[in-house]
Amino acid sequence: MKALVYNGDHAIALEEKPMPKIIDPTDVIVKMSKTTICGTDLGIYKGKNLYMKPGTILGHEGIGIIEEAGENVTSFKKGDKVLISCITSCGSCENCKKQLYSHCKNGGGWILGHLIDGTQAEYVRIPFADNSLYKIPPQIDDEIAVLLSDILPTGHEIGVQYGQVKPGETVVIVGGGPVGMSALLTAQFYSPSKLVMVDLDDNRLALAKELGATHAINSSAANLLDQIKEIVGEDGCDVAIEAVGVPPTWNICQKIVKPGGHIANVGVHGQKVDFEIQDLWIKNLTITTGLVNTNTTPMLLKTVAADKIDLSKMITHRFKLDEIMAAYDVFLNASREKAMKIIINN
Ligand SMILES: NC(=O)c1ccc[n+]([C@@H]2O[C@H](COP(=O)([O-])OP(=O)(O)OC[C@H]3O[C@@H](n4cnc5c(N)ncnc54)[C@H](O)[C@@H]3O)[C@@H](O)[C@H]2O)c1
Ligand SMILES: [Zn+2]
Ligand SMILES: [Zn+2]
Repeated sequence: MKALVYNGDHAIALEEKPMPKIIDPTDVIVKMSKTTICGTDLGIYKGKNLYMKPGTILGHEGIGIIEEAGENVTSFKKGDKVLISCITSCGSCENCKKQLYSHCKNGGGWILGHLIDGTQAEYVRIPFADNSLYKIPPQIDDEIAVLLSDILPTGHEIGVQYGQVKPGETVVIVGGGPVGMSALLTAQFYSPSKLVMVDLDDNRLALAKELGATHAINSSAANLLDQIKEIVGEDGCDVAIEAVGVPPTWNICQKIVKPGGHIANVGVHGQKVDFEIQDLWIKNLTITTGLVNTNTTPMLLKTVAADKIDLSKMITHRFKLDEIMAAYDVFLNASREKAMKIIINN
């Protein structure tokens, strides 16, 4: 089968790989219909990730049809259309019982396209299928469903829920990529009074306004912090959501939160940041970090099926699996290409 293989930093290629096989009786094999590229895949490509072994197939998002189900899989059968969660989980270990699926102690967590072969391929093996796949409500378009593998739950859980966004509060999201936009959309469940998007890309800022941002600011502005405080108030915002994963955006977040506020870090960081404890110790802040658990995926599926959030503007490009190298090129140059989420069709 064809698959996009990570061969080391800045080295990926579409290659011929053997078909995946059932290893454990709780596995299924999914014939991929649609996948996409994540900011995290770009991070891997750029050498941010320490654990990815050369030779591994990339990708942790997508939908497909079950080709074969292991004998202990009870909820799914051959022919079912499924959403693949970016997080694989056994559902029964100590952490899974706490819905901390990203830290599944039985070898789950974020393993797809990371520790085991992923979804940017014609077929993929999904371990612990009963707890790691979802049926897709018929009201949800296939392309839209792909956005529920990772980005929508990530923005919601690690940005909005961990940031404890409440009605009337002021929220600043730093980073308007697919994950930041997902935080922007799901923050609106809670009716914040000010919802500010900060990014370097004016196209993304314009989209943020369309998706419900009350304000959008280019972070290259010399007076960025003043501009933010003019909107949210001199003390700062209630919630800052970091959705990039680099030191400058962490620095913005730690400078703009008011006493008692929250910094929710979502970005995957590849290097250390300065933590300004000398200014922050007195502020009674809550700072959260985390890998998405996808424990809110069932709720988000219902919300999207009921048309409560419109994700259609997030999809900007479509490619065939054969053209995935060109798709990476577009996503790597997202600003120039006006790209947000790219659908890869099999
Ligand atoms: N915690 C998790 O579970 C989880 C899950 C998925 C993705 N992520 C991470 O979330 C982050 C965002 O993912 P994405 O897919 O949206 O990535 P992306 O690369 O598409 O988007 C990042 C955005 O940040 C903007 N940006 C870059 N530098 C900036 C700066 N100095 N100021 C303001 N904006 C800046 C870019 O213009 C871009 O719009 C990545 O680090 C990704 O690895 C985390
Ligand atoms: Zn991802
Ligand atoms: Zn588990």
